[in-house]
Amino acid sequence: MERLISLTLIAVFALFGIVTSTTECDLPPSLWCSTSETAKRCKVFDQCKDYQTEKRDAKLVNVTLYHESLCPDCIDFITTSLWKAFTKVSDIFTITMVPYGNAMEKKEANKYKFFCQHGEAECVGNLIESCAIYVLKNERASFNYSHCIASYLNTQRRVDFPKAAKKCANEQSINYDQIDACANGQLGNQLEHQMAVRTRALNPSHNYVPWVTINGVHTEALQNQTETDLIKVVCDTYQGPKPSACQEIIHDTHSCRRLKSEL
Ligand SMILES: *[C@@H]1O[C@H](CO)[C@@H](O)[C@H](O)[C@H]1NC(C)=O
Ligand SMILES: *[C@@H]1O[C@H](CO)[C@@H](O)[C@H](O)[C@H]1NC(C)=O
Ligand SMILES: *[C@@H]1O[C@H](CO)[C@@H](O)[C@H](O)[C@H]1NC(C)=O
Repeated sequence: MERLISLTLIAVFALFGIVTSTTECDLPPSLWCSTSETAKRCKVFDQCKDYQTEKRDAKLVNVTLYHESLCPDCIDFITTSLWKAFTKVSDIFTITMVPYGNAMEKKEANKYKFFCQHGEAECVGNLIESCAIYVLKNERASFNYSHCIASYLNTQRRVDFPKAAKKCANEQSINYDQIDACANGQLGNQLEHQMAVRTRALNPSHNYVPWVTINGVHTEALQNQTETDLIKVVCDTYQGPKPSACQEIIHDTHSCRRLKSEL
């Protein structure tokens, strides 16, 4: 009898042991090498070393956002789908921002005059963003900065773009004077012209904003998916071992778009 009890106990402990060791590595094998922490947890650390090299060699997915500073749908996209991707899977993609959108330009003597969909205030915002990209020289820092501004514009209706830009510069220890000087001078004018050139070079050309390309490609299906779940687009496109955040499922129900024909 006693023997039976101890055998039962051994069986229970063995079962318990199996259960706990599987929950310790409760991930599909395709993810075991996604981080060295996971690899250790799944007891495949040595075997994963080659994959980690492969991961470094896999090309990052290029996400490019063509937008304009005061378009509500662009602000939405920056603060929802794009921000989620930035916080979850930023190590497998790059973000390039092209703030110009549906603006137009006209060459004058030695500079360009810009005309923006949401008026002069939007042109000022585009210039500030273009200058921030130039001054910060780091796409993650400049996206983080643009996101901060977009969040202020979203939640505090009375804040104008320069005010939000200044606030965010303070919060993120960015020298706003440098950005301001750029935005008000010849440099900003040239940088914004380059944004115009890049926007006009789109093929197919954009007919609404936000307009997103993934590795330089835009299709309507891809665009729809980026607006609801950019993480999935980035994860599906990435050729290296997927980070664990690729397993999380996120659904935004909203999808906003502004057709050029409705302007
Ligand atoms: C973004 O800015 C916040 C401060 O607003 C900072 O705490 C965070 O580290 C920044 N993230 C990146 C990736 O630069
Ligand atoms: C992303 O852009 C960079 C720089 O233009 C390029 O070297 C790289 O090959 C691109 N990645 C992909 C996956 O196309
Ligand atoms: C993309 O979304 C728009 C607007 O919701 C819709 O009209 C269109 O049919 C969708 N296109 C594709 C290819 O999914």
